[in-house]
Amino acid sequence: MKILITGGSGYIGSHTIIEIFKNTDWEVLSIDNYSNSSELSYQRIEDITGKKPTYFNVDLRDLEATEKVFSENIGIDGIIHFAAFKAVGESVEEPLMYYDNNLNSLANVLKCQEKFKIPNLIFSSSCSVYGNIDELPVTESSHLAKAESPYAYTKQIGEVMLQDFAKTNPLFKTIALRYFNPVGAHLSGLNGELSSNRPNNLVPFITQTAIGKHDKLTVFGSDYPTRDGTCVRDYIHVSDIANAHVVALKKLFEEKSFPAYDVINLGTGNGVTVLEAINAFEKVSEKKLNFDIGERRDGDVGEIYADNTKAKQVLGWEAKTTIDEMMDSAWKWEQYLSENPAN
Ligand code: NAD
Ligand code: UD1
Repeated sequence: MKILITGGSGYIGSHTIIEIFKNTDWEVLSIDNYSNSSELSYQRIEDITGKKPTYFNVDLRDLEATEKVFSENIGIDGIIHFAAFKAVGESVEEPLMYYDNNLNSLANVLKCQEKFKIPNLIFSSSCSVYGNIDELPVTESSHLAKAESPYAYTKQIGEVMLQDFAKTNPLFKTIALRYFNPVGAHLSGLNGELSSNRPNNLVPFITQTAIGKHDKLTVFGSDYPTRDGTCVRDYIHVSDIANAHVVALKKLFEEKSFPAYDVINLGTGNGVTVLEAINAFEKVSEKKLNFDIGERRDGDVGEIYADNTKAKQVLGWEAKTTIDEMMDSAWKWEQYLSENPAN
């Protein structure tokens, strides 16, 4: 099988290529414009698997350049479309940048899918499509509330574009995977997320604080109606997310009667509080983390976690990695980065 991955040098894309090389003999092509990653990812993939994908430096907003990759690589069996901007806060400040990049890239991928008759597509969606939801756990049939940010709205619109497109030709099959909170790094500690120097997300802020980049972590709120007062999230290891893409694509390859369009949550089904996440980190790293309790962060929901029944039933897939392993791998990666600053 020949697979095209967009955003293949990014965080989840690179882990997915690793999972593909580990579990299949598929040939992998990757398109990325390195707007949030670099070619060094491919070297890290090779360090772990002994293999590199064939890669193209292309901006997916450029239809002509994108089409060229497809026309020079006839016979692609499936696409996994990761490429997008993903920072919620930035999307509020720069909405047009998000609508332009995320939606035009998707439209161009679909145009190529149509022109080159590529039957299968997996799309990176997000639990942010559910908006501010109070029905727990979140099932795929839960109502999609208003998107809380332009980023989340690009995922809602993306899903609608895919549904409409799937109706145009019975050849096309699409699965949109709605990720909850992907965290951690490859268990070897040799590949992970390249976060900014002041990340908004919890896990990179924990590891950066522990390595000395920040004085302390602030826990955003301790007065939520949860078991210890801090927010609950469904953290899921990035390699589990990556593996789900391999399983989903295999499903499309093998099950010709699969629905033209389906959505599936990717979560562990377990909620973890911020304090539990910190405890897990302290346990595996044997380091005390400097943190204090601050105000609630604007826009945060107190508790959200997935109902993962559909992933089990439809894909036969379940996340395997524990919160301790998520933290251990994130910590190994942070240490790798401090020893290899060129990354
Ligand atoms: P990432 O930024 O690490 O990877 C995205 C990759 O796409 C980057 O390498 C970037 O350079 C590339 N890219 C962006 N725009 C492009 C364009 N126009 N042309 C070519 N390449 C382009 O992000 P990630 O965490 O790996 O996320 C992958 C996907 O998963 C995204 O669609 C994201 O919205 C979605 N998602 C991520 C999370 C998360 O927490 N990481 C959660 C839910 C959904
Ligand atoms: C955020 C995004 C979500 C995206 C997800 C990907 C927002 C509003 N939502 O979700 O769309 O899919 O990342 O991983 O940005 N926390 C602290 N201190 C910190 C950082 C975080 O206490 O310094 C807490 C937060 O309040 C939250 C939890 O840790 O309760 C997780 O935060 P974060 O990693 O930012 O993820 P989400 O807010 O769930």
